[in-house]
Amino acid sequence: MSVVLQGFGTGLSDAARLAARLGIPLHAIALHRFPDGEMRVTVGPAAGTVILYLPLDQPNDKLLALILAAEALRREGAARLVLVAPYLCYMRQDIAFHPGEAISQKAIGRLISGLVDRVVTVDAHLHRTAAIGAVFPGIEADNLSAMPAIATMLSGEGLDPATLVLGPDSESRPWVADLAGRLGLDHAVGEKIRHGDRAVEIVFGDPSGIKGRPVLLVDDIVSSGGTLVTAAKALLAAGASAVDVVITHALFPAGMIATFTAAGVRSIRSTHAVPHPTNAIPLDAILASALTRECQGLK
Ligand code: R5P
Repeated sequence: MSVVLQGFGTGLSDAARLAARLGIPLHAIALHRFPDGEMRVTVGPAAGTVILYLPLDQPNDKLLALILAAEALRREGAARLVLVAPYLCYMRQDIAFHPGEAISQKAIGRLISGLVDRVVTVDAHLHRTAAIGAVFPGIEADNLSAMPAIATMLSGEGLDPATLVLGPDSESRPWVADLAGRLGLDHAVGEKIRHGDRAVEIVFGDPSGIKGRPVLLVDDIVSSGGTLVTAAKALLAAGASAVDVVITHALFPAGMIATFTAAGVRSIRSTHAVPHPTNAIPLDAILASALTRECQGLK
């Protein structure tokens, strides 16, 4: 069966590298905005299997484009649609925190499950959800870890062996422990209390473990930047000799890098899951490995 990769917008250059690695053609999906705000989506030629590369940051228009692209591709003969969404949107509202709130994780999961046959994502925000399969009923779903890619990048840099790998909250422990284990470094996590969209409080426990050491702060998402700024200030106040940051999903505006620098952050780097000026960690190898089976029998 033939396989093609299709994508659009800022994700196209990452999609192109992935297509080249998989040895399959890439087609750009064209979007046109009508004067009334509606959208026309024009897909490339359909194949038996179409891999749609679509990082779902700034997601509202992209979800609509996905609905329209899936309609066109199915009608034109695609038997299998695989959504590669290195960043998966709307996962953080995974319970109704207050009466009447929509559980966006459930609603968006069901929507996508009705459109495609498989979802491949990276470090999905599943803090209270046991497994990615629970988000996507009835279809295949893979939640890949970015930590092998981050470790590969960092291990070539000659990190100071005194570096402490830190996460801002207890939810970050699995990926912080994984990354620290791969790099042979110590790790710890803080305790975070969120007071609002941008207001957080973080406590890092015993400062004697931080004083005089470089800290590598690791998180899945930076969005408002509140967590990162609060954590960096707390770590420097506790005597950290430097704070470097690696994250999977850079959702913040590029102009906010100056705010992080002002808070004492020495460097911030992100994976290519969300196209962003801080991108420094390609995910090509882990994505290609998850997608190889889609391409088997092609050559
Ligand atoms: C929280 O559970 C996540 O792991 C991140 O720490 C959080 O999403 C960061 O958000 P913000 O940048 O808005 O503080």
